[in-house]
Amino acid sequence: MRTKKFAVLAAGMALTFALAACGGGGAGSAKAGETAGAKGGTIGVAMPTQTSERWIADGKAVKKGLEADGYKVDLQYAGDDIPVQSQQIDQMITKGVKLLIIASIDGKALSSQLQAAADAHIPVIAYDRLIRDSKNVDFYVTFDNEKVGDQQATSLLVGLGLLKADGSKGTAKGPFNVELFAGSLDDNNASFFWKGAIAKLQPFIDDGTIVVKSKQTKIEQAATLQWKQETAQKRMEDLLTSAYSDGSKVDGVLSPYDGISRGIITALKNDGYGTTAKPMPPISGQDSEIASVKLIADGVQFASIFKDTRKLAAQAITSSKAILEGKTPVANDTKSYDNGVKVVPSFLLKSDIVYKDNIKSLLVDSGYYTAAEVASGQAAS
Ligand code: BGC
Repeated sequence: MRTKKFAVLAAGMALTFALAACGGGGAGSAKAGETAGAKGGTIGVAMPTQTSERWIADGKAVKKGLEADGYKVDLQYAGDDIPVQSQQIDQMITKGVKLLIIASIDGKALSSQLQAAADAHIPVIAYDRLIRDSKNVDFYVTFDNEKVGDQQATSLLVGLGLLKADGSKGTAKGPFNVELFAGSLDDNNASFFWKGAIAKLQPFIDDGTIVVKSKQTKIEQAATLQWKQETAQKRMEDLLTSAYSDGSKVDGVLSPYDGISRGIITALKNDGYGTTAKPMPPISGQDSEIASVKLIADGVQFASIFKDTRKLAAQAITSSKAILEGKTPVANDTKSYDNGVKVVPSFLLKSDIVYKDNIKSLLVDSGYYTAAEVASGQAAS
Protein backbone atom coordinates (compact mmCIF):
# COMPACT_ATOMS: atom_id res chain seq x y z
CA MET A 1 0.00 0.00 0.00
CA ARG A 2 2.75 2.38 1.12
CA THR A 3 4.97 1.50 -1.83
CA LYS A 4 2.09 1.92 -4.25
CA LYS A 5 1.29 5.33 -2.79
CA PHE A 6 4.91 6.37 -3.07
CA ALA A 7 5.12 5.18 -6.65
CA VAL A 8 2.07 7.27 -7.54
CA LEU A 9 3.56 10.25 -5.74
CA ALA A 10 6.90 9.84 -7.44
CA ALA A 11 5.24 9.56 -10.84
CA GLY A 12 3.24 12.70 -10.07
CA MET A 13 6.39 14.55 -9.08
CA ALA A 14 8.26 13.45 -12.18
CA LEU A 15 5.39 14.73 -14.27
CA THR A 16 5.41 18.03 -12.41
CA PHE A 17 9.12 18.45 -13.05
CA ALA A 18 8.74 17.51 -16.69
CA LEU A 19 5.99 20.09 -17.11
CA ALA A 20 7.97 22.69 -15.25
CA ALA A 21 10.93 22.01 -17.51
CA CYS A 22 8.72 22.77 -20.54
CA GLY A 23 7.87 26.08 -18.95
CA GLY A 24 4.23 25.14 -18.56
CA GLY A 25 1.92 23.57 -16.03
CA GLY A 26 -0.84 21.58 -17.73
CA ALA A 27 -3.77 23.94 -18.13
CA GLY A 28 -1.37 26.66 -17.04
CA SER A 29 0.94 26.37 -20.01
CA ALA A 30 1.33 29.20 -22.48
CA LYS A 31 -0.32 28.76 -25.84
CA ALA A 32 1.80 27.67 -28.81
CA GLY A 33 3.52 30.67 -30.32
CA GLU A 34 3.35 32.71 -27.12
CA THR A 35 6.36 33.34 -24.98
CA ALA A 36 5.75 32.17 -21.44
CA GLY A 37 5.63 35.24 -19.26
CA ALA A 38 4.90 37.59 -22.16
CA LYS A 39 2.72 40.46 -21.08
CA GLY A 40 -0.35 41.66 -22.86
CA GLY A 41 -3.34 39.68 -23.98
CA THR A 42 -6.73 39.62 -22.33
CA ILE A 43 -7.69 38.12 -18.99
CA GLY A 44 -11.34 37.16 -18.53
CA VAL A 45 -12.84 38.13 -15.17
CA ALA A 46 -16.30 36.72 -14.39
CA MET A 47 -18.05 38.19 -11.35
CA PRO A 48 -21.45 37.13 -9.96
CA THR A 49 -23.44 40.29 -9.33
CA GLN A 50 -23.40 44.02 -8.88
CA THR A 51 -26.15 43.99 -6.26
CA SER A 52 -23.55 43.54 -3.53
CA GLU A 53 -20.82 46.16 -3.20
CA ARG A 54 -18.02 43.77 -2.53
CA TRP A 55 -18.14 42.25 -6.02
CA ILE A 56 -18.02 45.72 -7.58
CA ALA A 57 -14.94 46.49 -5.49
CA ASP A 58 -13.36 43.12 -6.36
CA GLY A 59 -13.99 43.62 -10.09
CA LYS A 60 -12.56 47.13 -10.06
CA ALA A 61 -9.46 46.13 -8.09
CA VAL A 62 -8.69 43.08 -10.26
CA LYS A 63 -9.15 45.10 -13.46
CA LYS A 64 -7.02 48.00 -12.28
CA GLY A 65 -4.19 45.75 -11.10
CA LEU A 66 -4.10 43.65 -14.27
CA GLU A 67 -4.22 46.71 -16.49
CA ALA A 68 -1.34 48.25 -14.55
CA ASP A 69 0.57 45.06 -15.37
CA GLY A 70 -0.07 45.45 -19.09
CA TYR A 71 -3.02 43.11 -19.58
CA LYS A 72 -6.39 43.89 -21.10
CA VAL A 73 -9.35 42.82 -19.02
CA ASP A 74 -12.74 41.51 -20.05
CA LEU A 75 -14.76 42.05 -16.85
CA GLN A 76 -18.32 40.71 -16.84
CA TYR A 77 -21.06 40.65 -14.21
CA ALA A 78 -23.83 38.07 -14.52
CA GLY A 79 -26.63 39.59 -12.42
CA ASP A 80 -26.71 36.40 -10.32
CA ASP A 81 -28.05 34.56 -13.38
CA ILE A 82 -26.35 31.17 -13.77
CA PRO A 83 -26.88 30.70 -17.56
CA VAL A 84 -25.70 34.28 -18.16
CA GLN A 85 -22.46 33.57 -16.32
CA SER A 86 -21.93 30.36 -18.32
CA GLN A 87 -22.44 32.30 -21.56
CA GLN A 88 -20.06 35.04 -20.51
CA ILE A 89 -17.36 32.48 -19.79
CA ASP A 90 -18.05 30.69 -23.10
CA GLN A 91 -17.55 33.99 -24.90
CA MET A 92 -14.33 34.72 -23.07
CA ILE A 93 -13.01 31.31 -24.13
CA THR A 94 -14.04 31.90 -27.77
CA LYS A 95 -12.31 35.26 -27.65
CA GLY A 96 -9.10 33.51 -26.63
CA VAL A 97 -8.44 35.01 -23.20
CA LYS A 98 -5.12 33.97 -21.67
CA LEU A 99 -6.54 33.13 -18.26
CA LEU A 100 -9.88 33.13 -16.47
CA ILE A 101 -10.58 34.50 -13.00
CA ILE A 102 -14.03 33.33 -11.92
CA ALA A 103 -16.20 34.12 -8.90
CA SER A 104 -18.98 31.65 -9.61
CA ILE A 105 -22.67 31.99 -8.84
CA ASP A 106 -23.38 28.27 -8.68
CA GLY A 107 -20.13 26.46 -7.92
CA LYS A 108 -21.39 23.27 -9.57
CA ALA A 109 -22.61 24.74 -12.85
CA LEU A 110 -19.39 25.44 -14.74
CA SER A 111 -17.90 22.00 -15.48
CA SER A 112 -18.44 22.20 -19.25
CA GLN A 113 -17.04 25.74 -19.45
CA LEU A 114 -13.99 24.66 -17.50
CA GLN A 115 -13.50 21.67 -19.78
CA ALA A 116 -13.63 23.99 -22.80
CA ALA A 117 -11.10 26.27 -21.09
CA ALA A 118 -8.75 23.34 -20.43
CA ASP A 119 -9.11 22.16 -24.04
CA ALA A 120 -8.04 25.65 -25.14
CA HIS A 121 -5.15 25.68 -22.59
CA ILE A 122 -6.73 28.52 -20.63
CA PRO A 123 -5.90 28.28 -16.94
CA VAL A 124 -8.62 28.99 -14.39
CA ILE A 125 -8.42 30.67 -11.00
CA ALA A 126 -11.44 30.33 -8.72
CA TYR A 127 -11.92 33.70 -7.07
CA ASP A 128 -13.31 33.77 -3.51
CA ARG A 129 -15.78 30.92 -4.26
CA LEU A 130 -14.56 27.41 -5.05
CA ILE A 131 -15.67 25.91 -8.37
CA ARG A 132 -16.74 22.34 -7.74
CA ASP A 133 -16.86 19.05 -9.64
CA SER A 134 -14.11 19.89 -12.12
CA LYS A 135 -10.47 18.93 -12.38
CA ASN A 136 -9.85 22.04 -14.45
CA VAL A 137 -9.47 24.52 -11.60
CA ASP A 138 -5.81 25.46 -11.36
CA PHE A 139 -5.83 27.58 -8.23
CA TYR A 140 -8.13 29.13 -5.62
CA VAL A 141 -7.71 32.50 -3.92
CA THR A 142 -10.00 33.23 -1.01
CA PHE A 143 -10.22 34.04 2.68
CA ASP A 144 -10.12 31.44 5.41
CA ASN A 145 -13.85 30.82 5.11
CA GLU A 146 -14.25 28.55 8.12
CA LYS A 147 -12.48 31.17 10.20
CA VAL A 148 -14.91 33.80 8.85
CA GLY A 149 -17.77 31.67 10.24
CA ASP A 150 -15.96 31.36 13.56
CA GLN A 151 -15.57 35.15 13.65
CA GLN A 152 -19.27 35.66 12.88
CA ALA A 153 -20.25 33.43 15.80
CA THR A 154 -17.62 35.07 18.02
CA SER A 155 -19.06 38.51 17.31
CA LEU A 156 -22.53 37.25 18.20
CA LEU A 157 -21.25 35.74 21.46
CA VAL A 158 -19.54 39.05 22.26
CA GLY A 159 -22.81 40.88 21.54
CA LEU A 160 -24.64 38.58 23.93
CA GLY A 161 -21.97 39.13 26.60
CA LEU A 162 -21.01 35.45 26.64
CA LEU A 163 -17.52 36.30 25.42
CA LYS A 164 -15.37 39.40 25.66
CA ALA A 165 -13.87 40.87 22.50
CA ASP A 166 -10.49 39.36 23.45
CA GLY A 167 -12.10 35.90 23.40
CA SER A 168 -12.18 35.40 27.18
CA LYS A 169 -15.36 34.39 29.02
CA GLY A 170 -17.98 37.10 29.47
CA THR A 171 -20.25 37.69 32.44
CA ALA A 172 -23.66 37.04 30.85
CA LYS A 173 -25.49 33.86 31.78
CA GLY A 174 -28.38 33.39 29.36
CA PRO A 175 -30.37 31.52 28.31
CA PHE A 176 -30.62 33.50 25.08
CA ASN A 177 -32.97 32.99 22.15
CA VAL A 178 -30.87 32.97 19.01
CA GLU A 179 -31.91 32.41 15.39
CA LEU A 180 -29.54 31.17 12.71
CA PHE A 181 -29.20 32.26 9.07
CA ALA A 182 -26.97 30.72 6.38
CA GLY A 183 -25.99 31.83 2.88
CA SER A 184 -26.82 30.39 -0.53
CA LEU A 185 -26.29 26.65 -0.71
CA ASP A 186 -25.05 26.72 -4.32
CA ASP A 187 -22.09 28.78 -3.05
CA ASN A 188 -19.45 26.51 -1.56
CA ASN A 189 -18.54 29.23 0.95
CA ALA A 190 -21.94 29.08 2.64
CA SER A 191 -21.25 25.68 4.20
CA PHE A 192 -17.76 26.74 5.30
CA PHE A 193 -19.12 29.85 7.07
CA TRP A 194 -21.83 27.71 8.68
CA LYS A 195 -19.40 25.01 9.78
CA GLY A 196 -17.09 27.54 11.44
CA ALA A 197 -19.96 29.36 13.12
CA ILE A 198 -21.81 26.30 14.41
CA ALA A 199 -18.61 24.78 15.81
CA LYS A 200 -18.23 27.93 17.89
CA LEU A 201 -21.88 28.07 19.01
CA GLN A 202 -22.42 24.35 19.62
CA PRO A 203 -21.11 24.19 23.22
CA PHE A 204 -23.45 27.04 24.16
CA ILE A 205 -26.37 25.29 22.44
CA ASP A 206 -25.48 21.99 24.12
CA ASP A 207 -25.46 23.44 27.63
CA GLY A 208 -28.68 25.42 27.07
CA THR A 209 -27.10 28.89 27.18
CA ILE A 210 -28.27 29.42 23.59
CA VAL A 211 -31.72 28.26 22.56
CA VAL A 212 -32.76 28.17 18.92
CA LYS A 213 -36.44 28.70 19.65
CA SER A 214 -37.61 27.99 16.08
CA LYS A 215 -35.69 24.67 16.21
CA GLN A 216 -34.41 25.49 12.71
CA THR A 217 -30.85 24.35 13.26
CA LYS A 218 -30.05 22.71 9.93
CA ILE A 219 -28.25 24.62 7.19
CA GLU A 220 -31.01 23.69 4.72
CA GLN A 221 -33.57 25.40 6.99
CA ALA A 222 -31.38 28.45 7.59
CA ALA A 223 -30.19 28.93 3.98
CA THR A 224 -30.88 32.09 1.95
CA LEU A 225 -30.97 31.46 -1.79
CA GLN A 226 -28.62 33.86 -3.62
CA TRP A 227 -27.93 35.65 -0.35
CA LYS A 228 -31.02 37.82 -0.92
CA GLN A 229 -31.98 40.48 1.59
CA GLU A 230 -35.74 40.15 0.88
CA THR A 231 -35.60 36.37 1.35
CA ALA A 232 -33.92 36.81 4.73
CA GLN A 233 -36.44 39.49 5.76
CA LYS A 234 -39.32 37.16 4.89
CA ARG A 235 -37.80 34.26 6.82
CA MET A 236 -37.20 36.46 9.88
CA GLU A 237 -40.84 37.63 9.69
CA ASP A 238 -41.98 34.01 9.53
CA LEU A 239 -39.78 33.09 12.50
CA LEU A 240 -41.20 35.97 14.55
CA THR A 241 -44.73 34.78 13.82
CA SER A 242 -44.12 31.09 14.33
CA ALA A 243 -41.77 31.10 17.34
CA TYR A 244 -42.09 34.46 19.09
CA SER A 245 -45.78 35.40 19.12
CA ASP A 246 -45.95 34.16 22.74
CA GLY A 247 -44.26 37.39 23.86
CA SER A 248 -40.74 35.94 24.03
CA LYS A 249 -37.92 37.94 22.47
CA VAL A 250 -35.14 37.30 20.00
CA ASP A 251 -31.84 37.90 21.81
CA GLY A 252 -29.41 37.42 18.93
CA VAL A 253 -29.14 36.44 15.26
CA LEU A 254 -26.31 34.73 13.40
CA SER A 255 -26.16 36.27 9.94
CA PRO A 256 -23.55 35.36 7.31
CA TYR A 257 -23.72 38.52 5.14
CA ASP A 258 -24.56 42.20 5.62
CA GLY A 259 -27.39 42.18 3.03
CA ILE A 260 -29.03 39.33 4.97
CA SER A 261 -28.43 41.24 8.23
CA ARG A 262 -30.23 44.28 6.84
CA GLY A 263 -33.22 42.09 5.87
CA ILE A 264 -33.28 40.67 9.40
CA ILE A 265 -33.06 44.18 10.90
CA THR A 266 -36.00 45.39 8.79
CA ALA A 267 -38.15 42.46 9.94
CA LEU A 268 -37.21 43.09 13.57
CA LYS A 269 -37.85 46.84 13.30
CA ASN A 270 -41.27 46.19 11.78
CA ASP A 271 -41.98 44.01 14.82
CA GLY A 272 -41.11 46.80 17.27
CA TYR A 273 -37.47 45.97 18.01
CA GLY A 274 -34.99 48.82 18.37
CA THR A 275 -36.51 50.57 21.41
CA THR A 276 -35.40 50.66 25.04
CA ALA A 277 -38.15 48.25 26.00
CA LYS A 278 -37.37 45.93 23.11
CA PRO A 279 -33.75 46.51 22.07
CA MET A 280 -32.33 45.40 18.74
CA PRO A 281 -30.56 42.07 19.40
CA PRO A 282 -26.92 41.63 18.36
CA ILE A 283 -26.70 40.58 14.71
CA SER A 284 -23.52 39.51 12.90
CA GLY A 285 -22.67 40.09 9.23
CA GLN A 286 -20.00 39.95 6.56
CA ASP A 287 -18.31 42.17 3.98
CA SER A 288 -18.49 45.46 5.89
CA GLU A 289 -20.75 46.99 3.27
CA ILE A 290 -20.94 50.72 3.76
CA ALA A 291 -24.66 50.73 4.69
CA SER A 292 -23.99 48.14 7.38
CA VAL A 293 -20.90 49.91 8.66
CA LYS A 294 -23.12 52.91 9.30
CA LEU A 295 -25.63 50.65 11.06
CA ILE A 296 -22.79 49.38 13.23
CA ALA A 297 -21.63 52.95 13.95
CA ASP A 298 -25.25 53.75 14.90
CA GLY A 299 -25.50 50.71 17.20
CA VAL A 300 -28.14 48.91 15.09
CA GLN A 301 -26.11 46.03 13.60
CA PHE A 302 -23.63 44.63 16.09
CA ALA A 303 -20.71 43.53 13.92
CA SER A 304 -19.51 42.54 10.47
CA ILE A 305 -16.47 40.82 9.00
CA PHE A 306 -13.94 42.79 7.00
CA LYS A 307 -12.45 40.94 4.06
CA ASP A 308 -10.12 43.34 2.30
CA THR A 309 -11.05 42.89 -1.36
CA ARG A 310 -7.95 44.89 -2.36
CA LYS A 311 -5.78 42.13 -0.89
CA LEU A 312 -7.79 39.37 -2.55
CA ALA A 313 -7.53 41.10 -5.92
CA ALA A 314 -3.77 41.54 -5.46
CA GLN A 315 -3.44 37.86 -4.58
CA ALA A 316 -5.45 36.83 -7.66
CA ILE A 317 -3.12 38.91 -9.81
CA THR A 318 0.04 37.47 -8.21
CA SER A 319 -1.26 33.93 -8.73
CA SER A 320 -2.35 34.68 -12.32
CA LYS A 321 1.06 36.05 -13.21
CA ALA A 322 2.81 33.02 -11.75
CA ILE A 323 0.64 30.70 -13.83
CA LEU A 324 1.11 32.76 -16.99
CA GLU A 325 4.86 32.69 -16.43
CA GLY A 326 4.74 28.91 -16.23
CA LYS A 327 5.47 28.85 -12.50
CA THR A 328 3.53 27.16 -9.74
CA PRO A 329 1.59 29.80 -7.79
CA VAL A 330 2.41 29.89 -4.09
CA ALA A 331 -0.28 28.15 -2.00
CA ASN A 332 -0.65 28.35 1.77
CA ASP A 333 -3.32 25.64 1.98
CA THR A 334 -3.29 22.38 0.07
CA LYS A 335 -5.82 20.36 2.01
CA SER A 336 -8.99 22.29 2.90
CA TYR A 337 -10.61 22.83 -0.48
CA ASP A 338 -11.62 19.53 -2.04
CA ASN A 339 -13.95 20.40 -4.92
CA GLY A 340 -15.29 16.87 -5.25
CA VAL A 341 -12.72 15.88 -7.90
CA LYS A 342 -9.46 17.22 -6.50
CA VAL A 343 -8.05 19.30 -3.69
CA VAL A 344 -7.48 22.71 -5.22
CA PRO A 345 -4.29 24.44 -4.06
CA SER A 346 -5.34 27.64 -2.36
CA PHE A 347 -4.12 30.90 -0.98
CA LEU A 348 -6.18 31.96 2.05
CA LEU A 349 -6.25 35.49 3.41
CA LYS A 350 -7.17 36.66 6.90
CA SER A 351 -10.32 38.52 7.88
CA ASP A 352 -11.17 40.75 10.85
CA ILE A 353 -14.24 41.36 13.00
CA VAL A 354 -15.56 44.92 12.73
CA TYR A 355 -17.22 46.33 15.84
CA LYS A 356 -18.33 49.90 16.48
CA ASP A 357 -15.08 50.73 18.24
CA ASN A 358 -12.67 49.54 15.54
CA ILE A 359 -14.40 50.93 12.43
CA LYS A 360 -11.85 53.72 12.30
CA SER A 361 -8.73 51.61 12.78
CA LEU A 362 -9.80 48.81 10.39
CA LEU A 363 -11.75 50.58 7.70
CA VAL A 364 -10.91 54.26 7.71
CA ASP A 365 -7.22 54.25 8.61
CA SER A 366 -6.59 51.56 5.98
CA GLY A 367 -8.23 53.77 3.32
CA TYR A 368 -11.03 51.28 2.59
CA TYR A 369 -13.66 53.94 3.37
CA THR A 370 -13.44 57.62 4.18
CA ALA A 371 -14.85 58.92 7.46
CA ALA A 372 -17.46 60.79 5.38
CA GLU A 373 -18.60 57.55 3.72
CA VAL A 374 -19.00 55.86 7.11
CA ALA A 375 -20.96 58.85 8.41
CA SER A 376 -23.32 58.91 5.42
CA GLY A 377 -23.56 55.15 4.90
CA GLN A 378 -22.93 55.67 1.20
CA ALA A 379 -19.88 55.02 -0.91
CA ALA A 380 -18.65 58.02 -2.89
CA SER A 381 -18.65 56.92 -6.52
C1 BGC B 1 -18.58 35.70 -0.21
C2 BGC B 1 -19.06 36.69 0.81
C3 BGC B 1 -20.33 37.35 0.36
C4 BGC B 1 -21.34 36.34 -0.16
C5 BGC B 1 -22.53 37.04 -0.79
C6 BGC B 1 -19.69 34.75 -0.56
O1 BGC B 1 -19.24 33.82 -1.48
O2 BGC B 1 -17.46 35.02 0.27
O3 BGC B 1 -18.06 37.66 1.03
O4 BGC B 1 -20.92 38.00 1.46
O5 BGC B 1 -20.75 35.50 -1.11
O6 BGC B 1 -22.16 37.81 -1.88
